[in-house]
Amino acid sequence: MQGVILSGGRGTRLGPLTAATNKHLLAVYDRPMIVRAIDQLVRAGIDDVIVVTGVEHAPAFRQLFDVLGGVGVSRLRIATQPAPAGLADALARAETLVDSDRLCVVLGDNVVAEGVIEPSRAAFEHQRAGARVIVAPVDAPERFGIARFASAGDPTSRVVRIEEKPISPVAGVPHAVLGVYFYPGDVFDRCRALVPSARGELEITDLNNAYAGNEALEHDVTDGAWVDAGTPEDLWRAGELVRAEVEREAGVTGVLR
Ligand code: TTP
Repeated sequence: MQGVILSGGRGTRLGPLTAATNKHLLAVYDRPMIVRAIDQLVRAGIDDVIVVTGVEHAPAFRQLFDVLGGVGVSRLRIATQPAPAGLADALARAETLVDSDRLCVVLGDNVVAEGVIEPSRAAFEHQRAGARVIVAPVDAPERFGIARFASAGDPTSRVVRIEEKPISPVAGVPHAVLGVYFYPGDVFDRCRALVPSARGELEITDLNNAYAGNEALEHDVTDGAWVDAGTPEDLWRAGELVRAEVEREAGVTGVLR
Protein backbone atom coordinates (compact mmCIF):
# COMPACT_ATOMS: atom_id res chain seq x y z
CA MET A 1 0.00 0.00 0.00
CA GLN A 2 1.23 3.51 -0.79
CA GLY A 3 0.53 6.59 1.32
CA VAL A 4 -0.44 9.98 -0.07
CA ILE A 5 -0.29 12.99 2.27
CA LEU A 6 -2.21 16.07 1.12
CA SER A 7 -0.18 19.04 2.35
CA GLY A 8 -1.09 21.96 0.17
CA GLY A 9 -3.94 24.39 0.83
CA ARG A 10 -4.02 27.98 2.05
CA GLY A 11 -4.01 27.58 5.82
CA THR A 12 -5.99 30.80 6.18
CA ARG A 13 -7.47 29.85 9.57
CA LEU A 14 -3.97 29.83 11.03
CA GLY A 15 -3.54 33.46 9.93
CA PRO A 16 -0.07 34.89 10.54
CA LEU A 17 1.47 31.47 11.18
CA THR A 18 0.98 30.55 7.53
CA ALA A 19 1.66 33.99 6.03
CA ALA A 20 5.15 32.96 4.88
CA THR A 21 5.14 29.19 5.13
CA ASN A 22 3.01 26.10 4.63
CA LYS A 23 0.82 24.83 7.50
CA HIS A 24 2.47 21.39 7.39
CA LEU A 25 5.88 22.87 8.17
CA LEU A 26 4.62 24.30 11.48
CA ALA A 27 5.52 22.60 14.75
CA VAL A 28 3.35 19.95 16.34
CA TYR A 29 5.13 19.77 19.71
CA ASP A 30 8.63 18.57 18.74
CA ARG A 31 8.38 18.01 14.98
CA PRO A 32 7.05 19.59 11.79
CA MET A 33 3.45 18.58 11.10
CA ILE A 34 4.45 16.83 7.86
CA VAL A 35 6.94 14.67 9.76
CA ARG A 36 4.21 13.65 12.19
CA ALA A 37 1.97 12.77 9.22
CA ILE A 38 4.72 10.56 7.79
CA ASP A 39 5.34 9.00 11.25
CA GLN A 40 1.73 7.93 11.59
CA LEU A 41 1.77 6.23 8.18
CA VAL A 42 5.07 4.49 8.87
CA ARG A 43 3.75 3.23 12.22
CA ALA A 44 0.76 1.78 10.35
CA GLY A 45 3.17 -0.09 8.06
CA ILE A 46 2.90 2.27 5.08
CA ASP A 47 6.41 3.41 4.21
CA ASP A 48 6.13 4.30 0.51
CA VAL A 49 4.90 7.87 0.69
CA ILE A 50 3.95 10.66 -1.72
CA VAL A 51 3.61 14.17 -0.29
CA VAL A 52 1.49 16.60 -2.32
CA THR A 53 2.08 20.27 -1.62
CA GLY A 54 1.70 23.66 -3.26
CA VAL A 55 4.25 24.25 -5.98
CA GLU A 56 5.61 27.31 -4.11
CA HIS A 57 6.32 25.25 -0.95
CA ALA A 58 7.91 22.19 -2.56
CA PRO A 59 11.50 23.52 -2.20
CA ALA A 60 11.06 23.92 1.58
CA PHE A 61 9.67 20.36 1.87
CA ARG A 62 12.63 19.05 -0.18
CA GLN A 63 15.06 20.89 2.05
CA LEU A 64 13.40 19.51 5.18
CA PHE A 65 13.52 15.92 3.92
CA ASP A 66 17.14 16.32 2.81
CA VAL A 67 18.16 17.61 6.23
CA LEU A 68 16.20 14.98 8.15
CA GLY A 69 17.32 12.07 5.97
CA GLY A 70 15.17 8.96 5.73
CA VAL A 71 12.27 9.86 8.11
CA GLY A 72 11.59 6.12 8.35
CA VAL A 73 10.30 5.63 4.81
CA SER A 74 11.48 3.31 2.07
CA ARG A 75 10.50 5.84 -0.62
CA LEU A 76 9.46 9.49 -0.28
CA ARG A 77 8.45 11.62 -3.23
CA ILE A 78 6.88 15.04 -3.68
CA ALA A 79 4.11 15.95 -6.11
CA THR A 80 2.99 19.53 -6.58
CA GLN A 81 -0.37 21.21 -6.83
CA PRO A 82 -0.30 24.43 -8.91
CA ALA A 83 -3.10 26.06 -6.87
CA PRO A 84 -5.19 25.02 -3.85
CA ALA A 85 -8.08 23.70 -5.94
CA GLY A 86 -9.37 21.21 -3.39
CA LEU A 87 -8.46 17.94 -1.73
CA ALA A 88 -9.49 15.73 -4.64
CA ASP A 89 -7.46 17.97 -6.97
CA ALA A 90 -4.46 17.53 -4.66
CA LEU A 91 -4.91 13.74 -4.70
CA ALA A 92 -5.12 13.72 -8.50
CA ARG A 93 -1.68 15.39 -8.62
CA ALA A 94 -0.15 12.23 -7.16
CA GLU A 95 -1.41 9.99 -9.97
CA THR A 96 1.80 9.84 -12.01
CA LEU A 97 3.77 8.72 -8.93
CA VAL A 98 1.33 6.00 -7.88
CA ASP A 99 2.14 2.41 -8.78
CA SER A 100 -0.11 0.57 -6.32
CA ASP A 101 -3.84 -0.12 -6.49
CA ARG A 102 -4.14 0.34 -2.71
CA LEU A 103 -3.79 3.87 -1.37
CA CYS A 104 -4.01 5.34 2.09
CA VAL A 105 -4.66 9.07 1.66
CA VAL A 106 -4.30 11.34 4.68
CA LEU A 107 -4.84 15.03 5.22
CA GLY A 108 -1.51 16.32 6.44
CA ASP A 109 -3.15 18.38 9.19
CA ASN A 110 -5.01 15.44 10.75
CA VAL A 111 -3.06 14.20 13.76
CA VAL A 112 -4.32 10.79 14.85
CA ALA A 113 -3.28 8.63 17.79
CA GLU A 114 -1.46 5.37 17.29
CA GLY A 115 -3.91 2.53 16.64
CA VAL A 116 -6.45 4.55 14.60
CA ILE A 117 -5.09 3.79 11.12
CA GLU A 118 -3.77 0.27 11.68
CA PRO A 119 -7.05 -1.72 11.92
CA SER A 120 -8.54 0.03 8.89
CA ARG A 121 -5.39 -0.52 6.90
CA ALA A 122 -5.57 -4.24 7.72
CA ALA A 123 -9.27 -4.41 6.83
CA PHE A 124 -8.70 -2.57 3.55
CA GLU A 125 -6.01 -5.08 2.54
CA HIS A 126 -8.80 -7.68 2.42
CA GLN A 127 -11.53 -5.42 1.02
CA ARG A 128 -12.50 -6.68 -2.45
CA ALA A 129 -13.72 -3.40 -3.96
CA GLY A 130 -14.52 0.20 -3.16
CA ALA A 131 -13.13 2.70 -0.68
CA ARG A 132 -12.93 2.84 3.11
CA VAL A 133 -13.19 5.70 5.62
CA ILE A 134 -12.88 6.04 9.39
CA VAL A 135 -15.55 7.80 11.46
CA ALA A 136 -15.51 9.03 15.04
CA PRO A 137 -18.10 10.59 17.33
CA VAL A 138 -17.94 14.40 17.57
CA ASP A 139 -19.67 17.15 19.55
CA ALA A 140 -19.66 19.81 16.81
CA PRO A 141 -21.09 18.30 13.58
CA GLU A 142 -21.18 21.71 11.90
CA ARG A 143 -17.36 21.64 11.65
CA PHE A 144 -16.94 18.30 9.88
CA GLY A 145 -18.06 15.95 7.12
CA ILE A 146 -20.71 13.89 8.90
CA ALA A 147 -21.73 10.33 7.96
CA ARG A 148 -25.39 9.54 7.33
CA PHE A 149 -26.02 5.89 8.08
CA ALA A 150 -28.42 3.49 6.33
CA SER A 151 -30.10 2.90 9.66
CA ALA A 152 -30.44 6.47 11.01
CA GLY A 153 -28.06 7.11 13.89
CA ASP A 154 -26.59 3.58 13.80
CA PRO A 155 -22.84 3.80 13.09
CA THR A 156 -22.64 0.04 12.55
CA SER A 157 -24.87 0.34 9.46
CA ARG A 158 -23.59 1.34 6.00
CA VAL A 159 -22.55 4.94 5.30
CA VAL A 160 -24.98 6.07 2.61
CA ARG A 161 -23.79 9.64 2.34
CA ILE A 162 -21.38 12.13 3.83
CA GLU A 163 -22.75 15.58 4.44
CA GLU A 164 -20.29 18.45 4.71
CA LYS A 165 -20.86 20.66 7.77
CA PRO A 166 -24.58 19.80 8.16
CA ILE A 167 -26.92 22.46 9.46
CA SER A 168 -29.95 20.19 9.87
CA PRO A 169 -29.96 17.90 12.94
CA VAL A 170 -28.14 14.57 12.76
CA ALA A 171 -29.83 11.44 14.16
CA GLY A 172 -28.07 9.95 17.18
CA VAL A 173 -24.47 10.81 18.01
CA PRO A 174 -22.90 12.60 15.01
CA HIS A 175 -19.94 10.76 13.49
CA ALA A 176 -17.33 12.75 11.56
CA VAL A 177 -15.23 11.33 8.74
CA LEU A 178 -11.53 11.57 9.64
CA GLY A 179 -8.94 12.78 7.15
CA VAL A 180 -7.73 9.23 6.53
CA TYR A 181 -9.13 7.47 3.47
CA PHE A 182 -8.40 4.20 1.67
CA TYR A 183 -8.88 4.03 -2.09
CA PRO A 184 -8.54 1.39 -4.79
CA GLY A 185 -6.86 1.96 -8.17
CA ASP A 186 -9.97 3.46 -9.80
CA VAL A 187 -9.78 6.56 -7.60
CA PHE A 188 -8.11 8.69 -10.25
CA ASP A 189 -10.86 7.93 -12.77
CA ARG A 190 -13.35 8.94 -10.08
CA CYS A 191 -11.41 12.18 -9.48
CA ARG A 192 -11.61 12.98 -13.19
CA ALA A 193 -15.39 12.59 -13.06
CA LEU A 194 -15.77 15.20 -10.30
CA VAL A 195 -16.97 18.73 -10.99
CA PRO A 196 -15.94 21.76 -8.92
CA SER A 197 -18.18 22.58 -5.97
CA ALA A 198 -19.87 25.93 -5.33
CA ARG A 199 -16.58 27.14 -3.79
CA GLY A 200 -14.73 26.10 -6.96
CA GLU A 201 -12.87 23.11 -5.48
CA LEU A 202 -12.77 19.37 -6.23
CA GLU A 203 -14.10 18.02 -2.94
CA ILE A 204 -12.99 14.82 -1.29
CA THR A 205 -16.49 14.50 0.17
CA ASP A 206 -17.87 14.34 -3.39
CA LEU A 207 -15.31 11.64 -4.17
CA ASN A 208 -16.34 9.63 -1.10
CA ASN A 209 -20.01 10.14 -1.93
CA ALA A 210 -19.38 8.72 -5.41
CA TYR A 211 -18.30 5.49 -3.69
CA ALA A 212 -21.13 5.68 -1.12
CA GLY A 213 -23.68 6.15 -3.90
CA ASN A 214 -22.55 2.86 -5.47
CA GLU A 215 -22.63 1.08 -2.10
CA ALA A 216 -18.86 0.89 -2.42
CA LEU A 217 -17.88 2.69 0.77
CA GLU A 218 -16.94 0.68 3.85
CA HIS A 219 -16.11 2.27 7.18
CA ASP A 220 -14.66 1.70 10.63
CA VAL A 221 -15.66 3.49 13.82
CA THR A 222 -12.80 4.63 16.03
CA ASP A 223 -12.72 5.93 19.57
CA GLY A 224 -9.04 6.85 19.24
CA ALA A 225 -7.86 10.42 19.68
CA TRP A 226 -7.52 12.66 16.62
CA VAL A 227 -7.23 16.37 15.93
CA ASP A 228 -7.85 18.32 12.73
CA ALA A 229 -5.09 20.87 13.36
CA GLY A 230 -6.47 23.66 11.16
CA THR A 231 -6.99 26.39 13.77
CA PRO A 232 -4.65 27.83 16.44
CA GLU A 233 -6.64 26.08 19.19
CA ASP A 234 -6.55 22.72 17.41
CA LEU A 235 -2.88 23.09 16.49
CA TRP A 236 -2.25 23.51 20.22
CA ARG A 237 -4.35 20.41 20.98
CA ALA A 238 -2.44 18.42 18.36
CA GLY A 239 0.79 19.43 20.08
CA GLU A 240 -0.61 18.21 23.40
CA LEU A 241 -1.55 14.86 21.82
CA VAL A 242 1.97 14.40 20.46
CA ARG A 243 3.56 15.57 23.72
CA ALA A 244 1.56 12.99 25.69
CA GLU A 245 2.72 10.28 23.26
CA VAL A 246 6.36 11.35 23.50
CA GLU A 247 6.18 11.35 27.29
CA ARG A 248 4.47 7.97 27.35
CA GLU A 249 7.06 6.49 25.02
CA ALA A 250 9.82 7.92 27.19
CA GLY A 251 8.14 6.39 30.25
CA VAL A 252 8.16 9.71 32.05
CA THR A 253 4.48 10.67 31.98
CA GLY A 254 3.89 13.40 34.54
CA VAL A 255 7.56 14.16 35.11
CA LEU A 256 7.89 16.65 32.26
CA ARG A 257 4.67 18.53 33.08
P1 TTP B 1 -8.33 22.53 4.74
O1 TTP B 1 -8.00 22.65 6.20
O2 TTP B 1 -9.73 22.29 4.36
O3 TTP B 1 -7.86 23.84 3.99
P2 TTP B 1 -6.55 24.69 4.23
O4 TTP B 1 -5.43 23.81 4.70
O5 TTP B 1 -6.31 25.47 2.98
O6 TTP B 1 -6.89 25.63 5.47
P3 TTP B 1 -7.90 26.88 5.59
O7 TTP B 1 -9.29 26.33 5.44
O8 TTP B 1 -7.62 27.39 6.98
O9 TTP B 1 -7.54 27.89 4.53
O10 TTP B 1 -7.41 21.42 4.10
C1 TTP B 1 -7.38 20.14 4.65
C2 TTP B 1 -6.08 19.48 4.28
O11 TTP B 1 -5.98 19.33 2.87
C3 TTP B 1 -4.86 20.22 4.72
O12 TTP B 1 -3.95 19.26 5.24
C4 TTP B 1 -4.33 20.86 3.46
C5 TTP B 1 -4.83 19.94 2.35
N1 TTP B 1 -5.18 20.64 1.09
C6 TTP B 1 -4.46 20.39 -0.06
O13 TTP B 1 -3.48 19.60 -0.04
N2 TTP B 1 -4.83 21.01 -1.21
C7 TTP B 1 -5.90 21.85 -1.27
O14 TTP B 1 -6.20 22.38 -2.36
C8 TTP B 1 -6.64 22.11 -0.05
C9 TTP B 1 -7.81 23.04 -0.09
C10 TTP B 1 -6.25 21.48 1.09
